[in-house]
This record gives sequence, structure tokens and C-alpha cells, in this order.
Amino acid sequence: MDRAISVLRMNDTGVFTKPGPHQYPHQWNWDSALIALGLSHVDLPRAQAEIRSLLSGQWHDGMLPSVVYHSIPSDYFPNPQFWQIENSPSAPSVPTTGITQPPLLATVVKLIYDRQPIHDFAGEVYPAILHWHRWLHTARDADGSALACIIHPWESGTDDSPRWLHLFESIQPEALPEFQRGDTRYVPATERPNRTEYERFIYLIDVFRKLNYAPRELLAHSPFLAQDVLFNAILFRADEDLRALAISLGRPTDEIDGWRRRMQQNFNTRFWDEKIGLYYDYDVRSGRPIPVNTASTFLPLFAGLPSKEQAQRLVEEHLLNPVEYALRGEVRHWVTTTAKTEPTWEARRYWRGPVWIITNWFIIEGLRRYGYDDLAETIQQDSLDLIEASGFREYYDARDGSGCGSDDFSWSAALALELSKFPVPMKAKS
Ligand code: DGY
Repeated sequence: MDRAISVLRMNDTGVFTKPGPHQYPHQWNWDSALIALGLSHVDLPRAQAEIRSLLSGQWHDGMLPSVVYHSIPSDYFPNPQFWQIENSPSAPSVPTTGITQPPLLATVVKLIYDRQPIHDFAGEVYPAILHWHRWLHTARDADGSALACIIHPWESGTDDSPRWLHLFESIQPEALPEFQRGDTRYVPATERPNRTEYERFIYLIDVFRKLNYAPRELLAHSPFLAQDVLFNAILFRADEDLRALAISLGRPTDEIDGWRRRMQQNFNTRFWDEKIGLYYDYDVRSGRPIPVNTASTFLPLFAGLPSKEQAQRLVEEHLLNPVEYALRGEVRHWVTTTAKTEPTWEARRYWRGPVWIITNWFIIEGLRRYGYDDLAETIQQDSLDLIEASGFREYYDARDGSGCGSDDFSWSAALALELSKFPVPMKAKS
């Protein structure tokens, strides 16, 4: 595990940890949470500093942005000038993006607290995380369901997932602002989002900056408005963890209980497809489910949302289904981000097919929650084998395990530390 620690040290700027040394030179929200989780195994004060540093970018209304730039010069695009957040009265003085990311932080703080119950630190960060969750359950609640909406694929953390293509069909950018992509400078274009998707990413930012990031305006006018299974599963789990922290700190839980109750009532009705036995995301603008089979369908297991029967269907009919996710033919590694049966499946392109360690971690945790320990162990071992063979890469080609995207990727290193805490049997030498 020394190599994992050196990747985290190498990407440490002293203020925050870069997700990747060249491709991602600022502080990303959910990357940072996972980085703190990894660091907590080896350097708790540094893990705490990582979280404080992320929270320094919080907006006055509670929004925790997807990226905090920290005034570090870089060639990353979109840069702070492009976002123009200064036109919003809620923007902080630190440069950030104007959108959020999956709310993993409460879960990370709780996991760290369970191992080392440091009351002062939990009490220090609790109000800021509560503020963020309140913002998600209000400023992003389009229908009173307590489910949060996302307004940009980058908020899902799974930028070019094929489930967003349905929404993009109805988004035709009339005019695009001038821009120059930076993401294909260090990573081959064949492993990054296609041009048509990228143009829509930029178009949406242009819409948001014209609306000065006013939450009500965004809900009313964003051309992209989705209730995302992955985002809401992470939020539901994070509310559970925030509640547990509140209890340890002797704080009231009524508000969190209210969110959880409403989410619990609405989650399965909104997302579960009983005929197919999968969770599908929901396009709020068209009022229709998005029938695309991606690994985010397994995220509710991480949150304890499916019934036992639903969990069984997810595992037996899909995760273990040889034509969808299980290993067969050219697929030799767990778990491809998109089912092999989707026509948009691509082995090396970003969220179109490759294996991501973060997705595997969610699934491993979810499987353990439902008692599928053997399968969890198999996926855990495969994740560690991928890292062993190809290094700490951003994602991996499921056919041969070769690495794609950024190298020396921080959350792969952080999750290697986290996954190694569960001893797995040594593989027999062949
Ligand atoms: C990127 O730059 O690719 C990010 O995913 C946007 O936050």
C-alpha cells in the first residue's frame, strides 16, 4: 500500500489533493471526500484538512460546488473565469464552479468517525454538511418528493453516461460561447466524452451563468433536469450517516428524518421498473423514465433502499447476468459502468463501459449490506488485481484490465487503502 500513499502524497498541493496530477489540477467534491477517506487510514489530520479545504468553497446558500479552484494556476478548462460565479449573491470568495456533485461527504465523515470518534471534528463540519443537504432537499426539489434534481451531467459525476443522451436529444445549442477543450490534452480523445456531448456540457453552463445561478431560475429553466438514481441513492445514504452523526453529537434529527421519510416513500415509486427489475433515472422535463441500463442501477443497494426481493432481482437478473454485467466473452473484469447490452457501450470511453474503482466500491458496500459477501469479495479482489496490474488509473478497460484516463489517480489510490481494510484470501499461484 506504500504506492497508494505515495500517489496521494504526490498529488497533495499542501491545501488540497488533486484527483489527477495533470488532468484534474483543482479540488473536486466527491474525489476529495474519497481522498479524505483514504488518507484517514494513514494521516488523520491531513484527512481532516482535506475536508476543511473542500468546505471552504461552500456557497452561502449551502451549495457545495463540484470544483473548488483555490486560485491555483492551471491549464484546466473550464477555468474560474468561464463560470462567472461572481454574478451570484451566494457565491463564496474562493473561485468555484456553479454546480454541485454527488453528496458523499457525510458518509465519509461518518466512516472516519466510526473508526476514530473525534467529537470536535465531527461537530465542526456537521453544520456545513447539514446546510448542503438542506439545500439539496429544497433548492433542488422540483416536486416536493425530497428527491434532488441534477441540472448538468457533471453533477452526476458520470459525465457522458449514455443515460444522459436521451435528455441531450432535446437540447440543441443555438449558439455556443467560445471555448477550447482542455480535457483531451493529457488523455486520448477516444477515452473522453464525444464532441456533441461536450458542446452540450458547455451550452448548459452558458445557460446557468445567464441565470446568475439563482436556484429557482435553474429549476424552472435548465434544459437538463433529471432525478438521478445514483445521486439520490448517495444522498439517502448520506442522510442516514448525517443522522447518525447528529445522534452522536446530541443534535436534533427531525429535519433529517423528514427528508428520509419522504425520500423513502418516493424512491422506489419514481425509479423502480418492476417489469425489468432495474432502477431507471427520470427525466423531469419530459416526465419519463430514462430506460438505459448502467451500473448506477446498483447504487440503491449502497443506501439500503431496495427490498430483499428487489436486491435479489438486481443481483441475479442483472449483475450476474452474463450478457449484461457478469464476466463472459471479452469482458474479464467487474463491473462495467454500462451494461454490455446497451448499443452505446464502449470499452475505453469514460463512463460508457470501463470499470471504475468508485463504482465497484459502491457495489461492494451494497452487496455486503444485503449479505452477498462472496460476490462482494470477488469484486473487491478483482478491483485490487486491476490496480496491482495496471496501477492507480482513473478507469480500466474491462477486456484486458489496461488503464485508461488519468494516471496516478487519487481516488483509485484512496480506495485501494479503503478496500484493503477487508482482508481477502490470497489468490492461489497458478
Ligand atoms: C471534467 O473536467 O471532465 C469534469 O468531470 C468536470 O467536472
